[in-house]
Amino acid sequence: MADRPRLVIASGNTGKLREYRELLAGTGFELVAFDTDVEEAGETYVENASLKAEAALSKSGLPSLGDDSGIEVEALGGFPGIRSARLGPTQKERTGELLRRLAGVPRPWRARFVCVIALAAPDQPTRSFEGECVGEVVPEWRGEAGFGYDPIFLVPGTGKTFGEMPPEEKRLYSHRAAAVRALLESGALQSLVDAKRGR
Ligand code: IMP
Repeated sequence: MADRPRLVIASGNTGKLREYRELLAGTGFELVAFDTDVEEAGETYVENASLKAEAALSKSGLPSLGDDSGIEVEALGGFPGIRSARLGPTQKERTGELLRRLAGVPRPWRARFVCVIALAAPDQPTRSFEGECVGEVVPEWRGEAGFGYDPIFLVPGTGKTFGEMPPEEKRLYSHRAAAVRALLESGALQSLVDAKRGR
């Protein structure tokens, strides 16, 4: 299928890339991973997602998706939020650091995951789409699936953390799946396909 339109996923995070490959399968796009390595200089998810998408667009000339996401813990005033990737050098240390900050805080530790997707395309203003998943942080690591903070994020009503869910179950609840749904429902991707075909 030589003329499949291409869409850049502006990320070097293998967990995110795997999820985008699953969530966008069936859209007809050939997905191209591209790590822009831009500094996350923004104050919000929308700004950071847009920085990533626009950097990828300017380097590739192709429509590009940027993802900025994080976990927000209510008792910590929404921390770490946009700083979720910067709590420590490895994910193990980041998860440990978050749990250390919660030590002594009465449970339940209500939390949410947030994902903002920005779509940057030639000659168009950048648009963004948001998804969230409300749940609870738990003190013990549970499960090996997923990535990031998945093993300590319990999804209400399931008795499972994201770390205990296969991808097809995580997508029923996940912030990233919700953001992708908003993107698809907006028609923005379809109009890129139509534009490429000259319709
Ligand atoms: P950033 O979007 O590159 O700033 O990184 C977001 C960080 O939030 C990731 O490195 C993860 O630690 C965390 N995160 C975002 N989405 C998820 C998810 O779906 N599961 C677990 N952790 C996530």
